[in-house]
Amino acid sequence: MTQDKEPIIRQAYCLYCLYLTTLIVGVFIQFSDESEFAVDLSKTGLTHVPRDLPPFVQFLDMSQNFLFELQTSDFSSLLGLKVLRLSHNRIQRLDFNVFNFNRHLEYLDVSHNHLQNISCYPVVSLKHLDLSFNDFSALPVCFEFSKLIQLDFLGLSATKFQQFDLLPVAHIHLNYILLDLGKYYVKEDETENLQILNTKTLHFIFPPNSLFSIQVNIQVNALGYLHLTNINLNNENCHVLMKFLLELTRGPTLINITLNNVETTWKCLVSVFQFLWSKPVEYLNIYNLTIVENINEEGFTYSETKLKALKIEHVTNKVFLFTKTALYSMFAEMNIMMLTISDTAFIHMLCPQAPSTFQFLNFTQNVFTDSIFQNCSNLVRLETLILQKNGLKSLFKVSLMTKDMPSLETLDVSWNLLESHRHEEDCIWVASIVVLNLSSNVLTDSVFRCLPPKVKVLDLHNNRITNIPKDVTHLEALQELNIAFNSLTDLPGCGSFSSLSVLIINHNSVFHPSADFFQSCHKIRSIDAGNNPFQCTCELREFVRNLGQVSSEVLEGWPDSYVCDYPERLKGTPLKDFHMSPLSCNTALLIVTIGASMLVLTASVTFLCLYLDLPWYLRMLCQWTQTRLRTRNVPIEDLQGTFQYHAFISYSEQDSAWVKNELVPCLEKENIQICLHERNFVPGKSIVENIINCIEKSYKSIFVLSPNFVQSEWCHYELYFAHHNLFHEGSNNLILILLEPIPQNSIPSKYHKLRALMTQRTYLEWPTEKSKHGLFWANIRAAFNIELTLTAENNDMKT
Ligand SMILES: *[C@@H]1O[C@H](CO)[C@@H](O)[C@H](O)[C@H]1NC(C)=O
Repeated sequence: MTQDKEPIIRQAYCLYCLYLTTLIVGVFIQFSDESEFAVDLSKTGLTHVPRDLPPFVQFLDMSQNFLFELQTSDFSSLLGLKVLRLSHNRIQRLDFNVFNFNRHLEYLDVSHNHLQNISCYPVVSLKHLDLSFNDFSALPVCFEFSKLIQLDFLGLSATKFQQFDLLPVAHIHLNYILLDLGKYYVKEDETENLQILNTKTLHFIFPPNSLFSIQVNIQVNALGYLHLTNINLNNENCHVLMKFLLELTRGPTLINITLNNVETTWKCLVSVFQFLWSKPVEYLNIYNLTIVENINEEGFTYSETKLKALKIEHVTNKVFLFTKTALYSMFAEMNIMMLTISDTAFIHMLCPQAPSTFQFLNFTQNVFTDSIFQNCSNLVRLETLILQKNGLKSLFKVSLMTKDMPSLETLDVSWNLLESHRHEEDCIWVASIVVLNLSSNVLTDSVFRCLPPKVKVLDLHNNRITNIPKDVTHLEALQELNIAFNSLTDLPGCGSFSSLSVLIINHNSVFHPSADFFQSCHKIRSIDAGNNPFQCTCELREFVRNLGQVSSEVLEGWPDSYVCDYPERLKGTPLKDFHMSPLSCNTALLIVTIGASMLVLTASVTFLCLYLDLPWYLRMLCQWTQTRLRTRNVPIEDLQGTFQYHAFISYSEQDSAWVKNELVPCLEKENIQICLHERNFVPGKSIVENIINCIEKSYKSIFVLSPNFVQSEWCHYELYFAHHNLFHEGSNNLILILLEPIPQNSIPSKYHKLRALMTQRTYLEWPTEKSKHGLFWANIRAAFNIELTLTAENNDMKT
């Protein structure tokens, strides 16, 4: 029973492990460009290959750790493994059988370990196998390697050679063999043989700090590129190197030789040159050259040579007293096409004594001065001259230098100390110059008066130009102008550069680029004006509009590098999001618009006042709202019980028609109880007594004012008002209706109260127009907009 269960349990356990693995290793997994799985465990202090690697890993880097042993179980589950880096560990033994299951392993780097021997097993998928920088005594190439037919790169190290060490791989067409001979053991006066290699590139790394003494005859088929690192020569062992090279350089295919980390005497260097001069080598590169002892005149025969290009980079000169002409003329007279001498302390180069074969000269990063090639008329074929990073100061002198170089097309004098202040008008350039690189100097505006007339590509970036003068020489051929990192405040028009198609003007001080740039520059294909301190004001509007019209291919860096710098509130706003209404940018338009709107407003107000009586409506509306508010605020208890009528109406006999036909019907329609003096007056009492009786029994008193009323009725009230404070100012109980206008001066001066009420203008005017009557009645009704229970006495009277 338990035996049946076991596999199930194991399966479950495995799934659980896999789950954990994915969780843990997930931390290291990153998707590479091809979205395949890569795990980087380099420099993590590993002493063992971790058990929990994800099974799908394809790229595994475990370099620079402390691994010392590899086992089959380490990699057996990594079935997709393609690239395995194990360099810089402490592995002592390598059994290729550990990769038995890695059918796709293409790249294996076990360099810089402590390997002494290997056990072979053909990993046929391998393309790159690096076993260099290990402790092998014999070359670690076993018979099984003959099956690695896909092998492209093979890195090996050895302390001794045997003639047929490399026989197993002789039939494989390798691209690159790296032979580390750092611990090579040299037997006195005994030449070893090594046959037969089949590789395009052969790279030897010799012991770094000992004299070159390796004597091996090496036969290589189809060698194209020989690379030697660490060569230490003096006058005595100089021939050893040449002997070493003799067999290797015999084949016609060896085109390229690179020597890296060379320490030699000048005499030996010259003999190496002389040795190679007659060989098929076309390209000779020397990097990190140290010259020791002394530099004297050495005889050299500039015989016909296959050599096309000599490149020497980074020279340390340990000789302090030497014949300068010996050094410089050696190079100046070379009958080759291309010469590069860079990163040296050379202060000069001589002019060739006869018309020279040089087409390309690169003297980057030396300490040449303005005297270079002055009055030198033998560089007749020179097309490209690079004097980058030297000590040139005068642009005028540079122009004079080119005067006798009739083929010169490209001149690079960037990163010097060039100034352009004197003699600009006298500059004499050779007319053939097409590309001129003046970048990273200290040139100012006047540089535009000293330029080769037919230049097509002009690089002036990183100088001190503030303005392109209007009267510059017309550069009609100029197609590309790079003027980035200067201090220009505006875009140059194309007036002087009618062919301009590429303009780079980023990182300047352009704040208001002229909008007419695109009009004057018809041929523009590309413009980069980013990273300028654009002032996002009205002036910029048109430019931004024009930008919007050119296609985005023309505009480099758009939209990210185009950002407002000013005003403060717009700082950082991308230009593409900067909009200003046409109105705010056009003062005339603004004034006209404001003027027009004012005019329309005045006209409409006048029209409303004159023809529609707007003030009357406003006043009525205002009163109506006030009344509504007031009646709402009156506590209902204050009103209960004391009144018999809602309203008492007082009017002159002459106005009785209006009162009876208009006012009373309208009020009674609303169920408002009215005390009229004809109707409700108590006989036997005086008029005034009756009036007072009526006023005191009514919730409101309505006075219908008209000149007649003032003449005939008001006299009853003026006295009453004077003595009773019933109708104090702002009282709610009084409703004045102005039936006809009463001229102020027609009110007798003794009627103080009436005058006061009239000046307060708290009356309701009876409008003559019928259309206004509605609002009038609404106002009256608003005053009674309250539920009132009148006392019973009123009901008696009514009946
Ligand atoms: C000019 O030289 C600088 C470096 O000194 C380089 O970056 C630039 O591309 C060169 N310009 C041209 C037009 O070749």
